[in-house]
Amino acid sequence: MMETERVFSLRNVWFTASVGAVIGIAAVAALIGFIWIPLEQSNKTVAGLWDAICTAAGVPESFRQVQQSAAPIAGPSNVIVSAQMMKPADGLSIGRGAALAPQCTMCHGVRGMSHADAPNLAGQHDAAIYKQLRDFKSGHRTSAIMGALVAGLGDQDMRDLAAYFAGLPRGPEATAADARHEAPVIVRNGSPMRNIAGCTSCHGGIDIKTGSPRLDGESESYLRAQLLAFATGARHNDIYGQMRNVARQMTPEEIDTTARFFAGR
Ligand code: HEC
Ligand code: HEC
Repeated sequence: MMETERVFSLRNVWFTASVGAVIGIAAVAALIGFIWIPLEQSNKTVAGLWDAICTAAGVPESFRQVQQSAAPIAGPSNVIVSAQMMKPADGLSIGRGAALAPQCTMCHGVRGMSHADAPNLAGQHDAAIYKQLRDFKSGHRTSAIMGALVAGLGDQDMRDLAAYFAGLPRGPEATAADARHEAPVIVRNGSPMRNIAGCTSCHGGIDIKTGSPRLDGESESYLRAQLLAFATGARHNDIYGQMRNVARQMTPEEIDTTARFFAGR
């Protein structure tokens, strides 16, 4: 007994040295096996330290894609928006979209109505959803969250998700937004002196331009954040600068008023 106690004691130089050596060898082996070798393997592209560790541990590529979103791109968008860009929704596409949707509901709500200040997708125009997903994927619109989520989606996946969410009912909190208050002047008429067309001439009400999202029932904070992002150019995926030209000309009060109006408050 006395013998063993003295062997397993930190005061025993031999014991300390051998434990230290084992830990050291393990650390070096982990560095080589998990990081150095994966980084060196020329047939694999490894995005960084974490990705290298995942590669070595055999985590499937489809899981790891979440790490790699597209780099931000300065140009507006590479989506050609036209009335023909979306096919009429068919049941098959909607069904496939429904199967993919559980990846989205955590933030966008079980039925596409978010209660977490993420934009609502229920009843959103399919062209608007599809275009935004394409822009997130290509990096024309940047969002740390969405960029990572769309990295693994193919073109048909994005069409299917758009078809599915577009077909969901918008929810009572949204449909009543327009009716509850009289629209502010800038919403109805814009401001001709500042070359702003009324919001309704593109976003619905008077006319809907393909690719313009529905705004009614989005959260006030989301709407305000998007208008400010267009005004500063932080968001720049709008083709021909349609929204940047509007938002840049708006006063902070107008941004507040319109955000509140479309949020139905
Ligand atoms: C972890 C939360 C989260 C998940 C999961 C998520 N999103 Fe999002 N999504 C957001 C946020 C936050 C934004 C707003 C980004 C911004 O501020 O620019 C957004 C924006 C969007 C937009 C743009 C909407 C608009 O009106 O411009 C679309 C479309 C979208 N998401 C679709 C999806 C789809 C489809 C999925 C599932 C594949 C998904 N999202 C999963 C949080 C999420
Ligand atoms: C000339 C047409 C046009 C006018 C006028 C216009 N918009 Fe837009 N708006 C667009 C388009 C197109 C988009 C989508 C841009 C893109 O492709 O990302 C957009 C996007 C937006 C978004 C982001 C929505 C989302 O879901 O991400 C907000 C908020 C917005 N507009 C608010 C307004 C307000 C408020 C007004 C009136 C003061 C207005 N817009 C006037 C065309 C217009």
